[in-house]
Amino acid sequence: MKVCVVGGGAREHALAHVLSRTAEVVVTPGNPLIPGSTDQPPEEIDADLFVVGPEAPLVDGLADRLRARGALVFGPGADGARLEGSKAWMKHIAAVADLPTARHGAFTDQGSADAFLDTMGDLFVVKTDGLAAGKGVIVTESRAEASAAVAEYLSGAAFGDAGRTVVIEEGMVGPELSLLAVCDGQGAVALAPAQDFKRVADGDAGPNTGGMGAYSPVPFVDDALVDQVMDRFVDPTLHTLRERGIDYRGVLYAGLMLTAEGPKLVEYNVRFGDPEAEVVLPRFSGDLAQLLAEAAAGHIETEPTFTDEAAVTVVMASEGYPQSPRTGDVISGLDEAATIPGVVVFGAGVATDDSGQVVTAGGRVLAVTAVAPGVSEARTRAYRAVDAIDWPGCFSRRDIAASAVAAHDAGVASGGR
Ligand code: AMP
Ligand code: GLY
Repeated sequence: MKVCVVGGGAREHALAHVLSRTAEVVVTPGNPLIPGSTDQPPEEIDADLFVVGPEAPLVDGLADRLRARGALVFGPGADGARLEGSKAWMKHIAAVADLPTARHGAFTDQGSADAFLDTMGDLFVVKTDGLAAGKGVIVTESRAEASAAVAEYLSGAAFGDAGRTVVIEEGMVGPELSLLAVCDGQGAVALAPAQDFKRVADGDAGPNTGGMGAYSPVPFVDDALVDQVMDRFVDPTLHTLRERGIDYRGVLYAGLMLTAEGPKLVEYNVRFGDPEAEVVLPRFSGDLAQLLAEAAAGHIETEPTFTDEAAVTVVMASEGYPQSPRTGDVISGLDEAATIPGVVVFGAGVATDDSGQVVTAGGRVLAVTAVAPGVSEARTRAYRAVDAIDWPGCFSRRDIAASAVAAHDAGVASGGR
């Protein structure tokens, strides 16, 4: 099977890495670290299956355009991708499907937004309605800060048109979980759970980012919880979409918060999470191309299976990320990192300079990933690789999966598993 992966970040690198175990893979536009990268646009590529990685082309209808040419495509059309393209619409679908989620309102003027803020508890969440690469969300205990964020978003200064409608939510508290479901329009199968680290600095300090690291499996998530999420969130959502004539074939990524009242939906994404894909996919032990082709064709027969190993990914970012990352620095140590057992360095914001050297070209530059028999060893290997890689001003969080290792060690110390 020939598979064309669309996109050029670490998620697409991870997809290509795992798909190429069983398929011939090309990636458009890819990046200098992804084998099989090509400049040819997807519309000009002949492939048995297209897998669209990022949200922007999905929201923009790329899957529809490829399907109109007769291609088999893994990724929702523009109708389904609206779940991510408009948070207000996502909340509407959540209400129709009766999904547990935070109380919210959508606003286009400051006065009504402020009046709604007055009805909230003591944790305020302000989001852009449209796409903002994971950065358009403010969570604050300050009513004044929330109101200022509304003003900034509505003015278009911060996120352009994406912010001209704002969504205000009641703040939820609890551990977060990313569960990615592979959907075939009728039903869905769950992939292994992962946890993502969204804030830029250690201890969950600083602004939200696209994600600074992830690990899988997650110690506090068992099969019963996965089943509960599929029954209570994913299946009713697919049903509600079907009722609206939406044939959703692709990943439905449920971002959940495990609150005192049970799991609640934070957001839906319409594609593999990034960096979740970098830890979930390397643990996949079956034929990924086969599974995604079945989903794209509307009939999943393959049950996803995962190794017992753990995976940890640590994002290496450029100085200034997420506000204004510096770019163009030469990256060193990639070859040395790759010699560490179980390590794969997925390229995100990378390019080559005139002399052919790999340089930084974005905020999130690399997703340094390690697979090992346990989360502790995977974490050690990932950070050894991070320490081998360098460029001026690079940084990463140092606490990715630290709590998972502590939970595991505490379980072992008390005789648990
Ligand atoms: P989103 O882009 O909607 O996933 O939001 C990004 C991050 O903001 C989430 O992963 C949470 O950490 C945080 N967040 C979003 N909505 C809420 C909420 N209602 N309560 C608490 N935290 C939230
Ligand atoms: N890791 C969060 C996202 O992919 O949106």
